[in-house]
Amino acid sequence: MDVENLLVRSEKVTPGGVHSNTRRIEPQIMPKKAYGSMLTDISGKEYLDYHAAFGPIVLGHSYSKVVDAVKDQLGEHGLYGVGVTELEVKTCEKIVEHVPSAEKVLITNSGSESTFHAIRVSRAFTGRKKIIKFQGCYHGWHDYVARNMLSEEKMIGKRDPGSAGMLDEVIDSTLVCRFNDLDDVENMIKANRNEVAAIILEPIPHNIGNVMPTMEFLKGLRTITEQNGIVLIFDEVITGFRHHLGGYQAICGITPDLTTLGKAIANGFPIAAVCGKSEIMDSFSTRPGGTALFAGTYNGHVVGTASILATIDIMEKENVHEHINTLGEKLRMGIQEIADRVGLEVTVKGFGSIFVPYFMSGEINNYEDLMREDTEMDLKFRRGMIEKNIFMFPIPMKRNHTNFTLTKKDVDITLQATEDVMKDIKK
Ligand SMILES: Cc1ncc(COP(=O)(O)O)c(C=O)c1O
Repeated sequence: MDVENLLVRSEKVTPGGVHSNTRRIEPQIMPKKAYGSMLTDISGKEYLDYHAAFGPIVLGHSYSKVVDAVKDQLGEHGLYGVGVTELEVKTCEKIVEHVPSAEKVLITNSGSESTFHAIRVSRAFTGRKKIIKFQGCYHGWHDYVARNMLSEEKMIGKRDPGSAGMLDEVIDSTLVCRFNDLDDVENMIKANRNEVAAIILEPIPHNIGNVMPTMEFLKGLRTITEQNGIVLIFDEVITGFRHHLGGYQAICGITPDLTTLGKAIANGFPIAAVCGKSEIMDSFSTRPGGTALFAGTYNGHVVGTASILATIDIMEKENVHEHINTLGEKLRMGIQEIADRVGLEVTVKGFGSIFVPYFMSGEINNYEDLMREDTEMDLKFRRGMIEKNIFMFPIPMKRNHTNFTLTKKDVDITLQATEDVMKDIKK
């Protein structure tokens, strides 16, 4: 079967032929199967996969211990819609054990649901309407957060809804600040005194590659939110379990009030969570008297709980983070060295298992700084890598991920391809 035929067939029954916003890309890859670090497309071409499905694949595709754990449970368990299962309890106990901010946990099916609920409960808890997010950060598709994501330069910090059909009141209840700029946040809070319910951030904004927060910024956010009765939400949907079983908060030492988790927590199976201080979490309607509605037919499904527990078990027992971080560092250093030698203006950023070659030089502290990136060159590089069977997602600034099955040999192959593609670009 070829790519065009499948897409044409799919377009007849699905708008645009794909089931999520950015899956229709150039070159179009149609996956057939994936195992370990390798993804095979329907034409039989194999790729070393650094896209990792936008991040969930942290142990490797179809990782047998996780798949087997799910299979084992499926023979016995169905969907109950009543009470609680032991797998759900164990899952929440493990999250409480590892994630510093987690005193109580609720299970959802996606990161978007988790950020939605974190914001709704913050509003219920504080009795306030507005929230603050940061330019460039992505927290899912719902109206509360879908503004000022990958904005055009002229729309940075301005009113930039990410979708038609959003309600004006909702768009305007979400205020937008500059990342790593505490003064901007302070001024925004002053201008909206006693109106801000929550500040939500990706502690490392990986949706724009890899922008590191300064410790001063994170500490400042913690202080300012405490002083003003604002709920601090760390959206760790990408960073959670990928950088540490406790999320980035366990690394940076700043504990938010609420945390959202998803993606890597279950190595590709659909489960996510919202967790945090009991005082706030107890406002959810799962507790008698709780006022913030929380519901979901599939919440706590056995596929999700079995896979998250298996992923945690593997991360507790094996040197997952050491391995993926070491290879991440090798790739960051290797790509930077090649770019410098070839004479391309590239700054490789990253953290742990994530690496991002930006085609630019100079400081990178926020989305505004990334406007200096040569996105055409970035795209050319990514497409060149895809031609050489290395799958780096063909959208500028998208992050690349290592996984537990990736080998040093895979890294060498990647660096050789990088050198070939960069030399071609330089010509
Ligand atoms: C930081 C962050 N939060 C939330 C989401 C939404 O998660 P989901 O796609 O599972 O709804 C994403 C998805 O990319 C994300 O990167």
